[in-house]
Amino acid sequence: MSRAIRTQVAIVGAGPAGLTLSCLLAKAGIESVVLENRSRSYVEARIRAGVLEQGTAEVLESVGVGERMHREGIVHHGIHLQFAGERHRVPLSELADGRSIVVYGQTEVVKDLIKARLDAGLPLRFEVADVSVHDIETDRPSVRFSDDGERFELVCEAIAGCDGFHGICRPAIAANLDTFSREYPFAWLGILADVEPSSDELVYAHHERGFALLSLRSPQRSRLYLQCGADERLENWSDARIWDELQRRVALEGWTLEEGAILERGITGMRSFVTTPMQHGRLFLAGDAAHIVPPTGAKGLNLAVGDVTILADGLIEFLTTKSDVGLADYSARCLRRVWRAEQFSYWMTSTLHRLGDDPFDEQMQLSQLRYLVSSEAAARSLAENYVGLPVDHFAPWAAVGSA
Ligand code: FAD
Ligand code: DHB
Repeated sequence: MSRAIRTQVAIVGAGPAGLTLSCLLAKAGIESVVLENRSRSYVEARIRAGVLEQGTAEVLESVGVGERMHREGIVHHGIHLQFAGERHRVPLSELADGRSIVVYGQTEVVKDLIKARLDAGLPLRFEVADVSVHDIETDRPSVRFSDDGERFELVCEAIAGCDGFHGICRPAIAANLDTFSREYPFAWLGILADVEPSSDELVYAHHERGFALLSLRSPQRSRLYLQCGADERLENWSDARIWDELQRRVALEGWTLEEGAILERGITGMRSFVTTPMQHGRLFLAGDAAHIVPPTGAKGLNLAVGDVTILADGLIEFLTTKSDVGLADYSARCLRRVWRAEQFSYWMTSTLHRLGDDPFDEQMQLSQLRYLVSSEAAARSLAENYVGLPVDHFAPWAAVGSA
């Protein structure tokens, strides 16, 4: 026997997508229940993204979780590209209409959103099990799950599948979806180190030994990444080997990379993946459940937040006026932005990583990088993609007609 509960929107997954959606809906007076299969401490400790587009920061602010982000987040107006022994600054804000990025960890975003939800006394259940979606082709879909040994059926009007790449929502509608994907023959080894960042802006480094990235989490904590083999094992990387490899790849005359204790480490695979459409019946996929980008363009979390702002608009319209115009257009509106970010992330990845042993590839990359730091038009294109394009920017500027 299962106990029935009702809500307007069932949200599967308490990552950035699910939590932000729950806050956007609550602000509009729409009820939702968030179901998460991991514990609160696990979700809050999972180290991932660190770069928020200005638009993402504005959404978080609009749902009332901007206070700590403004206090502790660090606004950046540029990034560095390093190659052939030189480092060049790309002045993002100058090139992209004054827009900037905020360096603020995904862990902190998630903590802020969870706190806001729980402080408001709104339903968010951790450590639920056996989650499954049902009747999504009807107007009374439901989500079944167990909580503390008890079975529940959450009956709702729509389900938001915000359960990440390995969740259960996308597989439940797989027969109705097309998927596109690309695997890369390399991965990232990422560390969090107890040391003041050696560069005050991010450094994306192309090197013959492989890509490296210098980022940060706070004035005392550095976050650094190294390209490694796709099937690399963490055991093979001692602290000394990690620092030695970073030192070689980011070396620059007159500048030193400071080292510190390694607090966390992990290896992340690289993949591009898109599912179309992002909806079937009353189930709407958002964030990593619908698409994955390789992390080089810093787009994953930002896409997740972009999706749920569009989804929230559609759900609010539907649940307050019964018009499903916005919901019907959900996938198409998201996918334009998703494909743009896919192309940008693919391009950043293939421009900056060591792709193999073919010297032709390396010459193509170096030529592209030289062009980026010598042509304002090329740098502007990088900048507007990196800081994030507005949700609906896809009006052709040079159309001469249509068939
Ligand atoms: P997730 O964060 O994956 O959340 C999904 C949630 O659903 C999880 O909490 C999961 O436990 C839960 N769940 C799964 N299955 C179930 C189930 N059956 N029932 C209930 N709950 C379930 N993005 C950026 O924008 N900028 C960056 O700088 C950046 N850097 C990154 C660096 C690394 C090393 C990695 C790994 C990723 C990075 N990303 C970055 C990507 C970003 O972290 C993800 O795109 C983002 O987490 C997506 O959010 P989400 O809510 O869609 O999915
Ligand atoms: C970080 C991660 C990224 O993928 C990126 O492109 C830039 C920064 C980070 O974790 O800080």
